[in-house]
Amino acid sequence: VNYHVRLATLADADILVRQRLGMFSDMGVPAETSREYGPQFRAWLNDMMPAGVYRGWLVESQAGTVVAGGGLTVLPWPPGPRSHRGRLAFVNNVYTEPEFRRQGHARRIMETIHAWCRHEGISSIGLNASQFGQGLYESMGYQVTDSPMMFLTLA
Ligand SMILES: CC(C)(COP(=O)(O)OP(=O)(O)OC[C@H]1O[C@@H](n2cnc3c(N)ncnc32)[C@H](O)[C@@H]1OP(=O)(O)O)[C@@H](O)C(=O)NCCC(=O)NCCS
Repeated sequence: VNYHVRLATLADADILVRQRLGMFSDMGVPAETSREYGPQFRAWLNDMMPAGVYRGWLVESQAGTVVAGGGLTVLPWPPGPRSHRGRLAFVNNVYTEPEFRRQGHARRIMETIHAWCRHEGISSIGLNASQFGQGLYESMGYQVTDSPMMFLTLA
């Protein structure tokens, strides 16, 4: 089967939401929480995709079956030692349907993301790696930093 990568549009919102929920579910995040953030993510896409803040790609067969996807959020980022170009691309929602894993689909998505960033003049790319993705990202040159990202959720 031949697969191609295409840009996702708002018409793909159902797929993008399903992939994000699937990603967290596979990462062991309890499914209950998705009832809240699923609809909120969809509303967020409605704002952020037309604005060009979020950009997603899908891997699709010639018959139109989507087997994988991933995207990025462009964040304003203060110039610093890593990059002085003022923007960071943060990778989100990298997901391959379970029966299509280990065929290079996620790598293709990542290569597409890198090509787009290069074209846009964005030279700094960040992500939170799941246990499933870490090997792939490391093989593409991503490094765990000495200053880990930390999160606080305020009540
Ligand atoms: C992480 C994830 C997106 C990877 O998707 P994938 O399409 O299987 O990724 P790839 O096929 O490009 O690469 C995965 C591995 O398969 C290997 N691989 C690629 N093509 C292969 C082939 N033809 N034969 C055998 N192995 C292959 C890669 O070398 C890579 O190995 P590694 O994990 O040891 O580094 C997928 O496992 C997934 O959706 N997991 C659940 C959600 C998740 O964790 N997402 C990432 C969030 S950061």
